[in-house]
Amino acid sequence: MNTPLHILGLSGSARTESHNLRLLRLVMGRLADQGHTVEQFDFRANPLPMYDGDDEAGTGLPENARLLKAKVKAADGVIIASPEYNAAISPLLKNAIDWTSRFDEQTKEGSPWGGKVVALVSASPGPMGGLRGLYVVRQVLHNLDAMVIPEQTSVGLAFEAFDEQGGLKDERTSGFLDATLSRFLEVARALRAATPASV
Ligand SMILES: Cc1cc2nc3c(=O)[nH]c(=O)nc-3n(C[C@H](O)[C@H](O)[C@H](O)COP(=O)(O)O)c2cc1C
Repeated sequence: MNTPLHILGLSGSARTESHNLRLLRLVMGRLADQGHTVEQFDFRANPLPMYDGDDEAGTGLPENARLLKAKVKAADGVIIASPEYNAAISPLLKNAIDWTSRFDEQTKEGSPWGGKVVALVSASPGPMGGLRGLYVVRQVLHNLDAMVIPEQTSVGLAFEAFDEQGGLKDERTSGFLDATLSRFLEVARALRAATPASV
């Protein structure tokens, strides 16, 4: 039997009716069904202020940034579901990545992203499904030495894309998602097997 992994899910939109939250729920459900432990970080319940260097110099990292850093660090892999805004990364996601990338003077913890296995998915009411934004997310995470897997899935025409059970109506897109998750698990498992437990 394959080792169960601990997977963290992040959505680049905290909007109540977010298509990306819906997509993330679908992904996390599929992973949980396979026996993995899954956790979604809730940016609505745990908001982060806009990054400001003066605030950081004055009071250090906000508690929610510290919390998110710890969750990224503890995860065997991270799934990010994010919309694109003007063909780029959503401000919520960029801000969260920026805060987590900062060295924490209090805990002495650096960025948790180095070597972290990450899979990217997106959804949008538009036909391209937020595809262009994922390339920007990929670029940002590469700069932090994350291992973003090549496979990714974008769900276009999102208002019509989900069935009543929250699954994807389009079989081809569903197949892309399967391939994305399968590679994500393969890489995360291999990395976990190769990395000695730190605690
Ligand atoms: C400032 C802004 C820029 C946007 N730019 C794009 C875009 O470039 N491509 C696209 O497909 N949708 C774009 N949208 C529409 C979003 O994809 C749409 O609002 C989507 O529902 C947001 O994701 P969510 O449903 O997860 O909240 C934009 C929305 C906003 C507010």
